[in-house]
Amino acid sequence: MIKFTIVTLFREALEPYLKTSMMWKATEKGLAEFDFVNLRDFGLGPHKSVDDTPYGGGDGMLLRCEPVFNAIEPVKAKDPDAKVILPTPVGVIWSQKLAREFAFNSGLCPSGLSPWADGTNSRAAALRNTPNQNANSHFIILCPHYEGYDERILSIVDYKISLGKYVLTGGELPALIIIDSVVRLIPGVLGGEKSAEIESFSDGDNLEYPQYTKPYDFRGMTVPDILLSGNHGEVAKWRAEHSGKAG
Ligand code: ADE
Repeated sequence: MIKFTIVTLFREALEPYLKTSMMWKATEKGLAEFDFVNLRDFGLGPHKSVDDTPYGGGDGMLLRCEPVFNAIEPVKAKDPDAKVILPTPVGVIWSQKLAREFAFNSGLCPSGLSPWADGTNSRAAALRNTPNQNANSHFIILCPHYEGYDERILSIVDYKISLGKYVLTGGELPALIIIDSVVRLIPGVLGGEKSAEIESFSDGDNLEYPQYTKPYDFRGMTVPDILLSGNHGEVAKWRAEHSGKAG
């Protein structure tokens, strides 16, 4: 079971996605759990304020320490192993490799690695390395809003993660992206060996190869004939040659 506790002012922005499609299936299957902490509940004063102006002047409001610490500390008290993630444009750039580490270096697999990390690309190997379904891993994602946060908040953060070199209005979209990209890697979520094969085929930087379904000819655009050849070796070679490389 992988658990995400999301500390946010905007639960309603996250919940519809997490209650849809694969994330919902992961919850239903007991493979993932999503929990929310309303940062506003820990706000200060009559207005339950969570932000204030920066010392030294400047534009904008910064997320204050007290609401953040008061929101996160009870979660950590219950589960001291929970790791805190802060989405921020100045964090480490999120990648497939990191998603795999979050999914698999957290006790969900006995080896501490992806069950497909041996690169054998086989269903048998995937099944041999059955992940430890009893293992738990828990991430707390703090979603800052407004223009930034008090630097002292970093003292309770384990991972600063950036989704890219652009600035979003808050941590909610990054939280969803981090969750989605990690949860889909948990064995049983996608439910197929296909996903296992693609993940093993990829070392984390290789992305999928081009794929086609019926019809063979769509408006004059035809499917590469090698894919109809029935020659599995040649198909595998073609796919390896045509798999995209992450930038
Ligand atoms: N918060 C605002 N912009 C962000 C980004 N690019 N990545 C992660 N968190 C953010």
